Amino acid sequence: MDSLKKIREDLLKINDDLSKANLVMSRGSEDAKIMFIGEAPGREEDEQGLPFVGRAGKQLSLFLKKAGIKEDDVYITNIVKYRPPNNRDPTKQEITRYAPYLKRQINIIKPDIICTLGNHSTKIVLTNFVPEDIDKIKGISQLRGKVSYVKIDGFNYKVIPVYHPAATLYNRALESVFENDLKIVKEELKQKSLF
Ligand code: URA
Repeated sequence: MDSLKKIREDLLKINDDLSKANLVMSRGSEDAKIMFIGEAPGREEDEQGLPFVGRAGKQLSLFLKKAGIKEDDVYITNIVKYRPPNNRDPTKQEITRYAPYLKRQINIIKPDIICTLGNHSTKIVLTNFVPEDIDKIKGISQLRGKVSYVKIDGFNYKVIPVYHPAATLYNRALESVFENDLKIVKEELKQKSLF
């Protein structure tokens, strides 16, 4: 049977350009109801081996609190598990290579809600992990705050895309949108079993 421990071991075996950095797999509870998915770790994440612990992570924590979402209820990860050099965006090839590990994490956590942070994770999840279909998915500004349903390996998930917290740091006008969208996530959690 698969486990988070096994995924970690498999990730440690990867030998590519990115894996010269430290592994940044996840933080949070295996029993979490909400799974947040970002893009790839940054410098502070690489240093600590944990996702979303830098500026974007602090912004995420602040807005989770504002929305009344407890950190105990969340599991946080990224698509790509090693820091891309100079914080560049992950390439389509890297997203394709790391996506199967993310899918395995979803199959273990089985969250009530998958909350994708920004364009990359929204696209890979809404294509149901078919990278060739990524260009068919709309952009985050059109999809944010809207509930979609995706069946992954036989299980239905509610997927709610929201802006990436880093985007709200560059453009403070997005903070109120981010706050409202996380409140939608909180509301949807209350009425989880609609399938
Ligand atoms: N941005 C991400 O997408 N992930 C992190 O872990 C940190 C910043």
